[in-house]
Amino acid sequence: MLKGRPVRIEAVGAYVPPVILSNYDLEKMVDTSDEWIVERTGIRERHLVLPGMATSDLAVNAARSCLESAGIGPDEIDLIIVASASPDYAFPATACLVQNELSARSSAAFDMEIGCTGFIYALATGAQFVSSGMYDRVLVIGAETLSRLTNWKDRNTCVLFGDGAGAALLSPGEQGEGIVGIHLGADGSQADLLKLPAGFSRLPATHDTVDEGLHYIHMDGKAVFKFAVNIMDVAISKVLSQVGKEPKDIDLLIPHQANKRIIDSACQRFGIPKEKVMVNIHKYGNTSSASVPIALYEAIQEGRIRKGNLVILVAFGAGLSWGSIAVVW
Ligand SMILES: CC(C)(COP(=O)(O)OP(=O)(O)OC[C@H]1O[C@@H](n2cnc3c(N)ncnc32)[C@H](O)[C@@H]1OP(=O)(O)O)[C@@H](O)C(=O)NCCC(=O)NCCS
Repeated sequence: MLKGRPVRIEAVGAYVPPVILSNYDLEKMVDTSDEWIVERTGIRERHLVLPGMATSDLAVNAARSCLESAGIGPDEIDLIIVASASPDYAFPATACLVQNELSARSSAAFDMEIGCTGFIYALATGAQFVSSGMYDRVLVIGAETLSRLTNWKDRNTCVLFGDGAGAALLSPGEQGEGIVGIHLGADGSQADLLKLPAGFSRLPATHDTVDEGLHYIHMDGKAVFKFAVNIMDVAISKVLSQVGKEPKDIDLLIPHQANKRIIDSACQRFGIPKEKVMVNIHKYGNTSSASVPIALYEAIQEGRIRKGNLVILVAFGAGLSWGSIAVVW
């Protein structure tokens, strides 16, 4: 819970790259079918970066969309946080590349990596800076090019992920509005279930690691699915009880878009009707840290969020990790 100034989400932006890869395209690449992918995941297509494009390029476009919506210039940003599991480089931080590209000369910049929960953790972190009074405007970006980390010969993973970016601008709000509840969690004992094994300090890249495909995403899909179904319930319950609300009070649930069956399970458990949950996984697949801000952006564009609405953002991912944020719009 924020202890200082109230913090609101002033504006939101998003960007997805132009190339669309459909399930039918994937049928030509691996032993899969549109029917299997739709039935097991809800995904129909995903957007991919063009050759030469990287995560910071998507992040910059999402940031520009967000700043345009806020009607402010890059000089007014105090801090840029980029959440990504697929940064341009191990270092420098993608946030620094974004800062330079935006010409946000007076802003501090850093990255956060906590898998698909990245945007929730980054939003919670950015909110602390605004709440404490240290900064007035924090730009939080979730951006990913998971297509670069995907083994396109592994049908267990390659059908799931997509590229994209979303951004939110945090600023001081009025009492009772904005971010009213935050719950974050992690369980490192399950870290092995979802990882990119090689290329860093534990297992530096060698010809062998490349030959074995250890620089790609490795996942125990079934185990992660089980974890996700359970932790969505925990994350939603915790943040609701923190703000003294019940599932029936939710005006819009914006969940991480990893698998439609995981979202359906949470909605069924809490009795949340379809019209109160944002789903766009069919268009983008799992865009990791970008999925919640892209969904939030689209919900606003579609007029699904009104002033005073209770919006719940919730995500889970590698770590394993999870988090939820309650926002009074
Ligand atoms: C990956 C996932 C979609 C697989 O769905 P599932 O219903 O658990 O499927 P299973 O893993 O049981 O596989 C069932 C069968 O389909 C096969 N299969 C796997 N991927 C396939 C594909 N793309 N196309 C066709 N068949 C596929 C499997 O090989 C298995 O075959 P077998 O029974 O002959 O061994 C699902 O487990 C999932 O979504 N997990 C969570 C992933 C996630 O959210 N990760 C990111 C977290 S942020």
